[in-house]
Amino acid sequence: MPQFNETELTTAVIKSFEEVEDPRVKYLMEELVKSLHDYVGRTNLTFGEWEYAIDFLTRVGQKCTPSRQEFILLSDVLGVSMLVDAVNHREREGATETTVLGPFYVGEHKAMPHGTDISPNLAGERMFVQGRVTDLSGKPLANVPVDVWHADDDGWYDSQKPDYETQGPSSRGRFITGADGRFFFRTILPCSYPIPTDGPVGQMILALRRHPMRPAHVHFLVNAPGHEPLVTHVFIEGDKYIDSDVVFGVKNELISKVEKRNDPVMPDGKPAPAPWYLMSYDFRLKPGHGVAPKPMMAATEDA
Ligand code: BEZ
Ligand code: FE
Repeated sequence: MPQFNETELTTAVIKSFEEVEDPRVKYLMEELVKSLHDYVGRTNLTFGEWEYAIDFLTRVGQKCTPSRQEFILLSDVLGVSMLVDAVNHREREGATETTVLGPFYVGEHKAMPHGTDISPNLAGERMFVQGRVTDLSGKPLANVPVDVWHADDDGWYDSQKPDYETQGPSSRGRFITGADGRFFFRTILPCSYPIPTDGPVGQMILALRRHPMRPAHVHFLVNAPGHEPLVTHVFIEGDKYIDSDVVFGVKNELISKVEKRNDPVMPDGKPAPAPWYLMSYDFRLKPGHGVAPKPMMAATEDA
């Protein structure tokens, strides 16, 4: 009957993976066990703490539904999502910076005509968003889908509201770049908002005396053939939480000066009651490949 002391146990578990054929799976499992065992040894983890951890992870799993991903939230607030982002985007070569996808990329993102107001029924200050998609040399990329989504001016995403099933999407859409790589749409100025705090991850954040806030931003997913899919946000300069994002997602290059304007027309020449806000941001894509994330609960294959 084999019997192992503290150090021999790690070696024994790693040896138990000997027959694993896929070298990457074997390597990932070995490193995971080494890190977990090291944590237990270094912290002298008690039975009570171990039980608490098991119960916490159980509650995280129980909070997940087809439209709610509490494990992604856990990864986000512990900085794991941004670390995975960092190790996979070490060389940007002038390409636009990336950040977290977040848990609110949901439902169908249907292509809309440029200039569409994606928040027609929402109160809030009006904003015109315009952008251009190019390659690294500045050549416009035409016919590229740009998915956008953001919170409303109360800090909620459409999918978090009880009437989402009947009201359908709001503050989200897809725009296809023109021959000049440009796209533009109307919406409202989003505000900073808390990540969901009604589950174990939110409770953990509050127990750790952290605030749960994300600075105001608009999400973009730009997916051009022959280029790496770009998952990013544009943050609004001056937001109170720009230096303390609960998911560590802010990068300087992604902060945009959103200008207050008093012109009687928006950049597409259509009248607008002043004042309104202008967000302008250009996206440079890196050549390459990759599978773009699909929205949760999307009904169609290509949504
Ligand atoms: C978001 O920006 O939508 C988000 C990202 C990470 C965690 C929660 C929300
Ligand atoms: Fe967001």
